[in-house]
Amino acid sequence: MKSLAGKRVLLTGATGGIGQAVLKRLLQLQASVVISSRSSSKLAELQATAPPHILAFTADITDEAGRQALLNFCRQHGGIDVLINNAGISQFAEATEQHAETLLNTNLLAPVRLCQLFLPMLQQRSGTILNVGSTFGSIGYPGFSGYCAGKFGLRGYTEALSRELSDSNVKVLYFAPRATQTGINPLQVEAMNKALGQGVDSPEYVAMALAEQLISGKRRCYVGWPEKIFVRLNGVFPAVVDKALGSKLKQIKQFFVTKQVEV
Ligand SMILES: NC(=O)c1ccc[n+]([C@@H]2O[C@H](COP(=O)([O-])OP(=O)(O)OC[C@H]3O[C@@H](n4cnc5c(N)ncnc54)[C@H](OP(=O)(O)O)[C@@H]3O)[C@@H](O)[C@H]2O)c1
Repeated sequence: MKSLAGKRVLLTGATGGIGQAVLKRLLQLQASVVISSRSSSKLAELQATAPPHILAFTADITDEAGRQALLNFCRQHGGIDVLINNAGISQFAEATEQHAETLLNTNLLAPVRLCQLFLPMLQQRSGTILNVGSTFGSIGYPGFSGYCAGKFGLRGYTEALSRELSDSNVKVLYFAPRATQTGINPLQVEAMNKALGQGVDSPEYVAMALAEQLISGKRRCYVGWPEKIFVRLNGVFPAVVDKALGSKLKQIKQFFVTKQVEV
């Protein structure tokens, strides 16, 4: 698309760190935005910052009724040209059975269902879908097995759908940030990133890259060096990355949560 001016965008996870920065950037680029998350109060606060250009809808995207209600809301308010599947949760080190299910429902099943539900509307409007993945959608990282499962799945789904619709008027894009300074990362992940010297981006930087990708229509965008290279290296020579991460495993495991056992 030439510009985002006048486009109508649905942004899930709009109350989070990356979501709020993306919202700001979209407004700067003169888009109007339907923001969504589970928190009515946070949504109301955000809506109050630019009332004519922001509509808010509270929904839990893991719930089919919530997803349908979000679709109906968008229909009733003139439809959308862009769907940004940004809402997500994370896990580090200890994934219980229930947590694994919630992770996959939120990070994989929900965006897949939202793509399916909004596709007819986007087909009518030559629209764009942008799914927010992660570097960990390409690199299996110790401690993030459940998160990686969801993001690898989302990357595969996005790639297949993008190829399937490449003869249509709908674009399907995959956007993969590396570690970003937001509340999704618990303290021990922040400490681990620092100890390992891993680069962490600001949400504003990530939002700029996301908006650029939307405008350029580039199918894939990986944010940050050397992560872009590691993603490719892991695809071609996974044993090299096995070795590199293996050498850091002891250090990584120091940040796994250790439960205090009371005796
Ligand atoms: N930060 C990073 O290091 C990083 C790196 C790579 C990729 N990402 C990806 O970037 C995206 C945004 O992450 P973030 O860092 O901005 O996280 P965040 O600050 O924790 O925000 C997450 C957002 O998702 C919403 N959300 C979570 N579960 C939901 C549900 N069931 N229904 C509706 N909304 C839900 C949250 O709102 P409510 O809780 O109010 O519902 C919040 O708005 C995620 O997909 C994440 O995986 C983040």
